[in-house]
Amino acid sequence: MSHASPKKQHSTVGARRIIAVGGGKGGVGKSVLSANIAVSFAERGQDVVLIDADLGMANAHTLFSIERPGKGLGAVLDKEVANLSETCVATGVPNLSLIPGTSASPGTANINHGQKQKLLRQVRNLDADLVVIDCGAGAAYNTLDFFALADTRLVVVTPQITSIQNAYGFLKGAVHRILIQAAGSPRRKQLVSAELSNARGVAKLPDAVARIALEDPELAAALHSQLQHFGGRVIGNYIYEPKEELIVQTMGRLCRDFLGIQATTLGTIPASKHMHASVNARVPLLNRHGSEPLAVMVRQIAALLANEDVQHQRNGRIALPRANRGDLSYAEAAAPMIH
Ligand SMILES: Nc1ncnc2c1ncn2[C@@H]1O[C@H](COP(=O)(O)OP(=O)(O)OP(=O)(O)O)[C@@H](O)[C@H]1O
Ligand SMILES: [Mg+2]
Repeated sequence: MSHASPKKQHSTVGARRIIAVGGGKGGVGKSVLSANIAVSFAERGQDVVLIDADLGMANAHTLFSIERPGKGLGAVLDKEVANLSETCVATGVPNLSLIPGTSASPGTANINHGQKQKLLRQVRNLDADLVVIDCGAGAAYNTLDFFALADTRLVVVTPQITSIQNAYGFLKGAVHRILIQAAGSPRRKQLVSAELSNARGVAKLPDAVARIALEDPELAAALHSQLQHFGGRVIGNYIYEPKEELIVQTMGRLCRDFLGIQATTLGTIPASKHMHASVNARVPLLNRHGSEPLAVMVRQIAALLANEDVQHQRNGRIALPRANRGDLSYAEAAAPMIH
């Protein structure tokens, strides 16, 4: 299989849409669902790039039978290529290329702040109709930042209390990070950070925003816009019986009540030996068992996603400038930024 399929970089337009897939817990189906959602959009004629951002444990290439994926994200980090777009490899699925998360050098998972900012910028600038990011497990800052980059932030959960717990913790971490970033200036970041860390235990995040509004209404309005346009979506995976769908629904309630974000359930995917078989055959489910009920469900989920208004979401999020109207005192300018 030829893997050379460079994408041109388009600095003014960039990725028309970014969907990130996270979930906190390992093994819940983030990678197989990222891959198959990407295939589904490619089938719809969109130009799609799948990014394996699981830097420590990359394996998206294996799902497409790509034996020598090259260094992908690692090549950018090691400065072997100037642009991320040069690391795209063909997947064998028309309209779909992959940026592997592989690296020759161990320790790639521990990228520094500058490297991460460069990667995030280059992801945003990819010339594609859709970029799908497989964020990998855990809630480390690097993982959260890839998730935060997206227009649509999708979490995969299984109907187990531990999965719901981890996905909620993951989303909470992402919301905190997004609000602090949106605050812009060091002083405002500090204010948000202090209010969020005051909100202990079962405290509700919208209450913290209401407290901020007393001190800084402009900041509170920006934070509110970030929550309103968060773009959270949930997929339930590994469903054995219909009543388990109710467990998946609790995610949406927790997110609304405690984080102040919408996290609509897009659908639930049954547990199926066909998913397992497609992984071992190293052919995406949609290409191998395309008419099975779970493949039909994946396509339905992709159709729901395709019908969403991404521009509305993007434009609705307000991020404040890093410094404005005398907001930045000398002491603040000298203080390290909160990241
Ligand atoms: N609906 C399903 N039915 C049956 N098996 C499934 C289903 N979804 C996922 N699997 C199986 O679970 C395994 C783990 O899936 P996957 O690698 O996508 O999880 P992950 O969340 O990406 O894990 P990690 O956190 O380690 O990256 C797959 O190899 C697949 O065989
Ligand atoms: Mg994975």
